[in-house]
Amino acid sequence: MTETAYCFKKLGLAADHVGLEFKALIGKSLQAMGFTIVDYGVAEKSESRVDYPDYASLLAAAVSTQEVEAGIAICGTGLGMAIVANKYPRVRAACIWDEYSCRMSRQHNNANVLCLGGRTLNSFRSVELTHLWLKTAFAGEQHTVRIEKIDKIEKNLLNPIRNR
Ligand code: RB5
Repeated sequence: MTETAYCFKKLGLAADHVGLEFKALIGKSLQAMGFTIVDYGVAEKSESRVDYPDYASLLAAAVSTQEVEAGIAICGTGLGMAIVANKYPRVRAACIWDEYSCRMSRQHNNANVLCLGGRTLNSFRSVELTHLWLKTAFAGEQHTVRIEKIDKIEKNLLNPIRNR
């Protein structure tokens, strides 16, 4: 059990000025396959530099409130988008860079926001890895307990284990 049918149908996309081109490509590719896409910006015509926290926030809030099932966020490295998105409840954003990190982010971490680097991947790879991510299912089993611990940390219900 690794790759299955696509895991999500309604997706949010967000990018800063660096990720704008990949966002358009990924969006077109997904729309052509019948996904429902909500674009949280930055707008395609934007020519100026923007701040990634603004767009990561719009997307992460939508994932957090289940306005969309999952999200794809692109900035220069994907790192800034992930840092911001992970501030939001119920968001598990993962910055991936190859097939292995892509698969693991779904199988083990049940990531619901995919973060990609516009400066670390080429456009073909960004589309290819997006499809791989969307087709890779959460593995459950022992990983479910770990995700539940993340939920508890978020709710301040889990204290760090000391003296191990
Ligand atoms: C913008 O230059 C860059 O800092 C941004 O796209 C992103 O990589 C931040 O993490």
